[in-house]
Amino acid sequence: MLLVCTCVYAVLLILRCDYTSAIRYDPTWESIDSRPLPSWYDEAKLGIFIHWGVFSVPSTSFPPHGQVAWFWTYWKGDKLKVFDDYVKDNFRPDFTYADFAEQFTAEFYDPNEWADIFNSSGAEYIVFTSKHHEGFTNWPSKYSFNWNSMAVGPKRDIVGELANAIKTKTSLHFGLYHSRFEWFHPLYLQDKANNFTTQNFVNTKTLPELYEIVNAYKPEVVWSDGDWEATSDYWKSTDFLAWLYNDSPVKDTVVTNDRWGSDATCHHGGFLTCSDRYQPGVLQKRKFENAMTIDSIAWGFRRNAEIKDFLTTHQLIATFVETVSCGGNMLMNVGPTKEGRINPIFEERLRDVGAWLNVNNEAIKGSRPWSHQNDTLTPNIWYTMKDSAVYAVVLDWPMGTTLSLAAPMPQSNTVVTMLGYPGPFQWKARSSSGLDITILPIAANKMPCKWAWVFKFTNLLNV
Ligand SMILES: *[C@@H]1O[C@H](CO)[C@@H](O)[C@H](O)[C@H]1NC(C)=O
Ligand SMILES: *[C@@H]1O[C@H](CO)[C@@H](O)[C@H](O)[C@H]1NC(C)=O
Ligand SMILES: *[C@@H]1O[C@H](CO)[C@@H](O)[C@H](O)[C@H]1NC(C)=O
Repeated sequence: MLLVCTCVYAVLLILRCDYTSAIRYDPTWESIDSRPLPSWYDEAKLGIFIHWGVFSVPSTSFPPHGQVAWFWTYWKGDKLKVFDDYVKDNFRPDFTYADFAEQFTAEFYDPNEWADIFNSSGAEYIVFTSKHHEGFTNWPSKYSFNWNSMAVGPKRDIVGELANAIKTKTSLHFGLYHSRFEWFHPLYLQDKANNFTTQNFVNTKTLPELYEIVNAYKPEVVWSDGDWEATSDYWKSTDFLAWLYNDSPVKDTVVTNDRWGSDATCHHGGFLTCSDRYQPGVLQKRKFENAMTIDSIAWGFRRNAEIKDFLTTHQLIATFVETVSCGGNMLMNVGPTKEGRINPIFEERLRDVGAWLNVNNEAIKGSRPWSHQNDTLTPNIWYTMKDSAVYAVVLDWPMGTTLSLAAPMPQSNTVVTMLGYPGPFQWKARSSSGLDITILPIAANKMPCKWAWVFKFTNLLNV
C-alpha cells in the first residue's frame, strides 16, 4: 500500500513537473497570444523610453517633418530640400549620413547618472533604442560591421553599459527597442524589391541581431518597431517569439509589444501599442502602452526645439493618469544629446513626475481600472482602484469649497481622504448619485503635492 501511494505520488510529481515545463508556445499567433503577460509589467505603469543614435548628431528636424530620428530618410529617401540645404549649408561638400557617426562622441555618457535620473522619475522600467531605422547598433554587433557604437563614434558598448548600470544601481526592469527594417540596407531593399518573397535580410540581419541582444543583455522588454512594410511571416516573428517565450534567458519575465508585422500591430504579441501616443480614452480589454514623448514633436533630441514644444509636468501627469485609468502603461520618451547628456528640461520633468509619484503612487503602482474611468459631473478626474479602495485623481483643483463627483456611491461608513494629507474629509451624498466633498480651505503650504491630487474612498457601495 505504501509502495503504491509513493508511486502514485511520484507519478503526480513527475506529471506536475512535466506540466510546468510543458507550457511551450508554438510559432503561431494563436499560441503566442495565449501567453499571460508577466505581472510586473501591468503593475509598473510607468516606463522611460530613450531614443539615442547617430540621428542625435544632426539632432535637427524641420516640422512638419518633425522626426529627428528620420533625418536620413527625409534627406536621402524623400529628398526633402530643407534637409539637403541644411547639410549643404553646414557641412563640408560630399558629406554623407555615415559621416555623422564620427561625431556621435558620447563623451559625457554616464550610464550611472542616467540610471539615477530614470529612477528618480518613479518609473519601473526603461526601453532603450538598441538600433533605430538607420541601422546603427548601439552595441558591438557581429552583424553590423563598421556601423556600430564600438567601431565608430562612442567606441563603447552603449547598451551593455546601460544594462549594467540599470541592473546594478536600480530595481528598474531593463528593456530594448529594436527596429526590424533599415531604410537603406541593401539586403532589405533587395527583399523589398522581391515583394518580400525572399528573406535574406531577416535571416542574416534582423533575427541574428535579436538573438544576440537577448542573449547578451537579457532585456525584460523587447520592443519591436519598423515592421510595417512587411507581414509577420516575412519577419519570422512568431519563430522568434516562440524562442523568446520558451527557451530564452528571459522567458519567464520578458514582455513584448505588438509591432511584429503589418498584420500584428494592434492585434498580436504582448501589450498593444497600436499607434504612437496611443490614448484610447476609454477602458480597454487588453493591456496597452501609450508610447509618448516629452518633446511633443520628436523622439530624438532636437537642438532646434522651443520651450513650448515640451509637455508641462501637468500635461505629463494628466496623460499618465488617463492612460492608467483606462488600463494602460505610459512609456515616456527622452532624447539624450550626442554627448550623452539628459538635457535639464527632460531631467526636471522626470524628477517632477517622480516627486508626484512619491506622494501618490498608492493610486498608481499595482492599481487596476475601476468600473468608471472619468467622472461625468466634474471634468479632468480619472479613477483607479486597488484592493477595495477607489482613487480619484483630480487634475484641476476645484473652485469653491466643494468637489462634486457622480461616480462614487457612498454609504454611511464611507471614508474620504487625500493622499499625503492628514485626516478625513466631510462629505454628503448627492440626491441623484455620487457625493459632494467639502474641500477644506487648505493652506497652499499644506498641499501634499503640485499638479494633481488624489482622493481616496474606502467602503464605497459600488466597488
Ligand atoms: C530610486 O527611487 C526610489 C523612489 O524614489 C528611491 O527610494 C530609491 O532610493 C532610488 N534608488 C536609487 C538607487 O537611487
Ligand atoms: C506582392 O505580394 C502581395 C502579398 O502576397 C500580393 O498581394 C501582391 O500582388 C504582390 N505584388 C507584386 C507586384 O507581385
Ligand atoms: C472622458 O474622457 C474622454 C476621453 O478623454 C472624453 O472624450 C469624454 O468626454 C470624458 N467624459 C466626460 C464625461 O468628461
